[in-house]
Amino acid sequence: MHKGVIIAGGLGTRLHPLTKVTSKHLLPVGNEPMVFHSVKQLTTAGITDILIVTNPQYVGDFVNALGSGKEFGCEFTYRVQEEAKGIAHALALAEGFAGGSRIVVLLGDNIFEKPIQHAVNDFHAQQQGARVLLKQVAWKDGERYGIATLNGNHIVAIEEKPPHPKSNYAVVGVYCYDASVFDIIRTVAPSARGEYEITAVNNAYIRRRQLEYGLVQGKWVDAGTFDSLAEAHQILLNSAEWH
Ligand code: DAU
Repeated sequence: MHKGVIIAGGLGTRLHPLTKVTSKHLLPVGNEPMVFHSVKQLTTAGITDILIVTNPQYVGDFVNALGSGKEFGCEFTYRVQEEAKGIAHALALAEGFAGGSRIVVLLGDNIFEKPIQHAVNDFHAQQQGARVLLKQVAWKDGERYGIATLNGNHIVAIEEKPPHPKSNYAVVGVYCYDASVFDIIRTVAPSARGEYEITAVNNAYIRRRQLEYGLVQGKWVDAGTFDSLAEAHQILLNSAEWH
């Protein structure tokens, strides 16, 4: 079975002062800390071996909130990302944990109305490579996300936060990777904003012609801003799936 990785570090500066004393991923969404949603997404998809990557200040709070995993029917491993140098940088810490298994990576601030299990099942049926999930967003919001350019059934490029998006298909924070992802991360150079971008990793899979995609079912929110945090709250309170 695949292993799961929840990326839950970073600085959460856009949510100050809410994130002055705690991690964004521990803020309430619905009736629970935000990170519970990522955990439940993975366990619902049958993934029970889960790594949590977070930052040094809050790792103790994550352990207090999540524990061993017994309560969720899974097993947690924790790793600390010393500096917030990007999502791919955080993911590199998962190499030993993955131990050659394929992995399903979730960004801990992504909230979904419906289970993402279908994507995990589709990845299971995929021979090799990687799989991402896309969601159509308002064109004006394209500059907040990785945006995929499609040609028929294929993604031909992904641009990170493009000022002039070529499509309105956002790449959401669910990434399925085969074991070669760690070799790919080692080839990635920091972007103009100084981060090891997950979009660079996905573009490397595109060059190998090994990036597949599916579409998100139901609503999706990246809860990194005040407005989207409020929206995430409403989605989980109103969704029958997650009660
Ligand atoms: O939500 C989907 C978007 O997430 C994608 O469309 C983008 O392609 C992708 O780059 C990412 O963009 P964001 O601007 O939303 O990334 P953010 O900096 O908010 O980080 C996403 C999550 O990863 C968040 O839960 C914090 C965590 N993180 C981030 C960084 C930079 C880490 O754990 N370590 C880090 O160094």
